[in-house]
Amino acid sequence: MTHETPKTMGQQFGRRSWAEPWKIKMVERLRMTTREERDKALIEAGLNTFLLKSDDVYIDLLTDSGTSAMSDEQWAGMMLGDEAYAGSRNFYHLEAALQKYYGYKYIVPTHQGRGAEHLISQIAIKKGQFVPGNMYFTTTRLHQELAGGIFVDVILDKAHDPNSLHPFKGNIDVAKLEALIAREGASKIAYVSLAGTVNMAGGQPVSMANVKELRALCDKHGIKLYLDATRMVENAFFIQEREEGYAKKTIAEILKEFCGFTDGAWMSAKKDNLVNIGGWLAVNDWTMFEELRNLVVVYEGLHTYGGLAGRDMEAMAIGIAESVEDAHIKSRIGQVRYLGDLLTDWGIPIVQPVGGHAIFLNAREFYPHLKQIEFPAQTLAAELYLDSGIRSMERGIASAGRDAKTGDHYYPKLELTRLTIPRRVYTQAHMDVVAESVKAVFDARGATRGLKMIYEPKYLRFFQARFERLIA
Ligand SMILES: Cc1ncc(COP(=O)(O)O)c(C=O)c1O
Repeated sequence: MTHETPKTMGQQFGRRSWAEPWKIKMVERLRMTTREERDKALIEAGLNTFLLKSDDVYIDLLTDSGTSAMSDEQWAGMMLGDEAYAGSRNFYHLEAALQKYYGYKYIVPTHQGRGAEHLISQIAIKKGQFVPGNMYFTTTRLHQELAGGIFVDVILDKAHDPNSLHPFKGNIDVAKLEALIAREGASKIAYVSLAGTVNMAGGQPVSMANVKELRALCDKHGIKLYLDATRMVENAFFIQEREEGYAKKTIAEILKEFCGFTDGAWMSAKKDNLVNIGGWLAVNDWTMFEELRNLVVVYEGLHTYGGLAGRDMEAMAIGIAESVEDAHIKSRIGQVRYLGDLLTDWGIPIVQPVGGHAIFLNAREFYPHLKQIEFPAQTLAAELYLDSGIRSMERGIASAGRDAKTGDHYYPKLELTRLTIPRRVYTQAHMDVVAESVKAVFDARGATRGLKMIYEPKYLRFFQARFERLIA
């Protein structure tokens, strides 16, 4: 038998190894299941990974939303919750953290991101106005539409190409935006909706040059520019890495500079901010703030808690400071990249370049024999779960929903299955298990059949839809 010298991961990739800037103090045990158990669980869940019980899941890569591991300091902060109905001291800590790191003047807490999206959409959109954005996000677009807005995708064309290596595929195509303004008139534009690292495009970043250009264009036409800051810290990492002049700036400096070009932001704090629940809305304009502060009372709670417990706001304030540490974000994105490098090396089709929070398997190329209406990405999520108990999520035709006017499905160019990596939760060994399972499903792809949807809810159907296997 030949003996090969074992190699560390760094050696295999021709670099020095790095490790996470934290150690583990408490563990949560995972349940392992058999293939038969998983098959049964999958059928009961209507082949929708959102409907699985988490007890039946081994490695949970459904989402990075609210799934982060909090630090010992955040947990200690939870004990300092001031649960006063009004004026909780934790609100003021949160406000100070947001002013310090994001730089906005006024803030309103919300229970999570979509609470914030709801409020800003209700206040900033008049019926029939257009809301141009860098690709849609499910809840964001729905709230814009419910407020009477018409979403228009003005992202670079390259963002729809999973193989394009453009370093800032999240950028808005300024020419597309200018053309929309010229066609409809500035008064018909509610605001520009800019997301930092575009989730549906594969976690692709926006450059500082792009936000500067957008600021200038918006100023010229008197249009507001609002930011979905959900993964803006991750976006800052890509600017530091890829954009000229930013290599020596800290993540905190880049984040604040970027936000400084926008008029305000909404946030799902369940991502970058390292908490299990929470969101916020921040603006610089006092009149706008007054309206938001008033509306939050109707839908979320008083403006100093917005649907959150005091302890949750404290954990968020601490999480914000931790999230902008360079060592944290380097290891967070490094782990995602590690998984991406393995899969790329094995010839498995994924969205390139690897983004900030997830690996997006390109289900169209994975299953070229399936039509989009046979839900290739949903099929892939089901097959992965069956193989190993890994839970992923569909980001394709099921997530895209239907055109409210025609009733037909939207047929997005990207048909993706997302392996989303929670922050500070899994180890490199977990990533190895995931990579090998994807490879096993890939090797068996030729025999895989698609799905049909047998139950379709009206709103955000991907959360609760049910499917059946198509028989060969
Ligand atoms: C880019 C983006 N915006 C907004 C949201 C909505 O936030 P939440 O899930 O906290 O309501 C999400 C959640 O996944 C998101 O990824």
